[in-house]
Amino acid sequence: MATQRTSIHGQWSSRLVFILAATGSAVGLGNIWKFPYITGEHGGGAFVLVYLLCIALVGIPIMIAEVMLGRRGRQSPINTMRSLLAEEGAHRGWSLLGWSGMIAGFLILSYYSVIAGWALAYVFRTGSGLFVGATADGVSAIFGEFAGSPERLLGWHTLFMLMTMIVVARGVRSGLEQAVKFLMPALLVILLLLVGYAMASGDFMHGVRFLFQPDFSRLDQGAILVAMGHAFFTLSLGMGSIMVYGSYLPKEASIASSAVIIALADTAVALLAGMAIFPIVFGNGLEAGAGPSLIFQTLPLAFGQMPWGSFIGGLFFVLLVFAAWSSAISLIEPAVSWLVENRGWSRVYASTMTGAVTWALGIASIFSFSGVTLQDIILSLVGGEGEPAAGGLLAMTVFDILDYLTANIMLPLGGLFIALFAGHVMSRESVREELAMRSPLMFRLWFGTVRTVTPVLVVLVFLSAIGVIGGE
Ligand code: PFF
Repeated sequence: MATQRTSIHGQWSSRLVFILAATGSAVGLGNIWKFPYITGEHGGGAFVLVYLLCIALVGIPIMIAEVMLGRRGRQSPINTMRSLLAEEGAHRGWSLLGWSGMIAGFLILSYYSVIAGWALAYVFRTGSGLFVGATADGVSAIFGEFAGSPERLLGWHTLFMLMTMIVVARGVRSGLEQAVKFLMPALLVILLLLVGYAMASGDFMHGVRFLFQPDFSRLDQGAILVAMGHAFFTLSLGMGSIMVYGSYLPKEASIASSAVIIALADTAVALLAGMAIFPIVFGNGLEAGAGPSLIFQTLPLAFGQMPWGSFIGGLFFVLLVFAAWSSAISLIEPAVSWLVENRGWSRVYASTMTGAVTWALGIASIFSFSGVTLQDIILSLVGGEGEPAAGGLLAMTVFDILDYLTANIMLPLGGLFIALFAGHVMSRESVREELAMRSPLMFRLWFGTVRTVTPVLVVLVFLSAIGVIGGE
C-alpha cells in the first residue's frame, strides 16, 4: 500500500516551524517542574549524568525514528502504523503501538493539566505580590494550603483543559505556532535571569555541585529507570506526539538535524531550571527532595525577595503556562487526529470529547495532593473501612501511579518498539530513503544505534529496575 505524500490535516509551513512546534511539545512542565524535583529526590549529579546519557543514546536515536515513521505514514499514529506495517508486510500486532500511545496521552494529560493549573494559579498569586517578603516556611504553608484544597485545583484544571481544547479544536498549526515563536525565547530569557539571581543570592556553588558532581553511591536501580523514563517524557517520545508532528513535516526537511536541535534546546532548558532552583534550595535551607511541590516552594521565595519580583515572577509563570500549553496540545493530538480520520468527526467535536474524558480522569489526580491514596478511593467506592496500606500500590496516590506507569513504563516500551520497528521491521531502503541523510556515515551510525544500542539499553534498564540484573 502506497503512503500519501501529505497529511489530510495539513503540513507545517517550514522545517523551522516543525522545530518550534516540536520544541514546544518537548519543553514544558517536564523541564521546569519535573526535572528539578526528580533530580532532588534522586540525589543530583549521578542521576543527571544518567539522564544525559539516556538523552544521547536513547532519546535522540528514537526521536529520529519516531519522526521518520510519522513522515512516512502521514497520518495519525494508529493509522500511520497500520499503513507502514502493511507496506512492510509486518504483523498486525504492531498497530498496538499507536493504541498504547493514544492511551498514554490521555493518562499523562489528565495529571499534566492539574499541575499546569498550579502554574496558572501562581501567575496571579505571584503577580499580586502575595510572596513579597515571605519566609521559606510561609511560602511552603501557602502551597500546602493550596494543594490541599481540591475545589481550587479543580477550577484551575478545568480552565487549563478548556485552553487546551480550544487550541486543538482550531488545529494545532494555527494559533500556537505564532505564540511559540516568541514565548519560548522569552522563557529562556527569564530562566537566565533567574540563574543570575541564583548566582548573586543563593548558594550557587552548592547548587551546581549538586547538579553536576556525580555521587554514584546515591544512585539506585529505581533511579536509573526514572532517569530513562524522564528522557522519554521530556522529549515527548514513545507515544506518538512527535510521530504525529512528523506526519506534518514537509518531505524535503532534514529529520536528523532537527531532532538534535530539539533535544539540545530541551536539555538546555532543564539544566538552566536546575541551576536556578538548587542554589535557592540550598541557600534557604530547603529540602531538595521536596517532591512535586519543589518549584512552587523555591521560586516564589526568590520572587518575593528580588526587586520587581512580583512582575518577573508573574511573567515567569505565564511563560511556564505557555510551555505547558504547547506540550498539552501535543499530548492529545494523536487521539484527535485519529478520531477525525477514522470516525469522520470534526476537529471541534473530537477535541471536545477527548478533552472531556481527560478532564474527568484528572479529577482522580486532584485528590492525590490532599494525600488520598488508591486504597482510600477503593474504600470510599465500596463503602468499607480498613487499616491504611503500609506500602505498595494501594498506598500510592493516583498521581504517583499514573506518573510511574506512563513515564517509566509506557513511554519507554513505546520507544523500544519504535526503535525495533525502524531498525528491524522496516526495510533499510525505506528508512534510508525517508531520512535522506546527507552523510552515509551518519546514517550507518544512527541505524546501528537504533537497531542495537538503544533497544539493549532500554531492556537492560527495565531488567535492572525489576531486579533481574545488578540487584544487591
Ligand atoms: N515533553 C513534555 C514536557 O517535558 O513537559 C511532556 C510531554 C508532552 C510528554 C508530550 C509526552 C508527550 F507526548
